[in-house]
Amino acid sequence: MPGAIHAEGLVKTFGDVRALDGVDLDVPQGTVLGLLGPNGAGKTTTVRCLTTLLRPDSGRALVAGIDVLKDPDAVRRSVGLSGQFAAVDEYLTGRENLQMVGRLYQMRGKAAKQRAAELLEQFHLTDAADRPTKTYSGGMRRRLDLAAALVVRPPVMFMDEPTTGLDPRNRQQLWEVIKQLVSDGTTLLLTTQYLEEADHLAHDIAVVDHGRVIARGTSDQLKARTGGERVEVVVHEREHIATAAEVLGRFGKADTTVEEHTRKLTVPVVGGAKLLAEIIRELDSRGIEMDDIGLRRPTLDDVFLSLTGHAAEEKPEENGAAEDPKARKRTKETAK
Ligand SMILES: Nc1ncnc2c1ncn2[C@@H]1O[C@H](COP(=O)(O)OP(=O)(O)OP(=O)(O)O)[C@@H](O)[C@H]1O
Ligand SMILES: [Mg+2]
Repeated sequence: MPGAIHAEGLVKTFGDVRALDGVDLDVPQGTVLGLLGPNGAGKTTTVRCLTTLLRPDSGRALVAGIDVLKDPDAVRRSVGLSGQFAAVDEYLTGRENLQMVGRLYQMRGKAAKQRAAELLEQFHLTDAADRPTKTYSGGMRRRLDLAAALVVRPPVMFMDEPTTGLDPRNRQQLWEVIKQLVSDGTTLLLTTQYLEEADHLAHDIAVVDHGRVIARGTSDQLKARTGGERVEVVVHEREHIATAAEVLGRFGKADTTVEEHTRKLTVPVVGGAKLLAEIIRELDSRGIEMDDIGLRRPTLDDVFLSLTGHAAEEKPEENGAAEDPKARKRTKETAK
């Protein structure tokens, strides 16, 4: 049985840009799918197709069991969308914006008022509730926009980069709101650039690049595919970089990355703290002074490098080394 959000072979082109090149997704009811990908990967286009704002050229999609192409109006009634760019009316106050959404969804005046007040409280906007939103900061608009998407408690939600532009405290608070929604049974597709966010919230992650899902799994599965943990060392002396690289090379399970100007070396490892202790002893016995050393989990950038051979922020065809992932990796190192 298809999930609450289900897509098969979605294709969308804009002129000669193939924004979606056959996207397949399935999000079981009551779970969160994190859609991860670099700029231009097709995340927003996917969300717009699934929420009926765009018509795909081909493919099929069901949201809350309803066919997106056959019955877009019914889909619209069942979904909440918070877009990448906050869509609030500048001249209305925060409270008026939320009440207006309630009225648009045929809530009674009193119910709309009450729901607006609840959401303003939940999103810490009560103090600013009666100011026109054109006086809000970027983070406040973002929060109001998310609140607007929650007015009618839709069973299926789409959030396009919900926490981009929020400070750490507001990001945390929003994560709590999202967790609450999901524990109440909402199905959520969220896009993000932050692996940490997907880590906190998503049951499953789909990595998109060039309009295709190139990997999917839980956060732990994806990280395991990138070679697991990294040891990161900052050596004190530039002259020690080569020796340190040689030592790390012996312990690592893939190539060591060197960042000359920060004297930082990184290598994927298996073996955790015990291996780290061995590396420290070995570096020490070779007389290498360290400013810093530690284990860290892979970042989104590591996932990207490992899955696609290029970093999240660059496009492989633009650097003239498209056929050789190692060459791209080196390009990235020197570009740093
Ligand atoms: N309306 C449009 N007209 C022309 N090209 C478009 C349009 N919308 C998207 N594209 C192109 O489609 C591709 C995918 O864009 P999309 O907005 O889906 O990416 P994204 O993954 O959301 O990126 P970001 O992380 O920057 O938000 C890009 O190459 C983009 O330039
Ligand atoms: Mg986008």
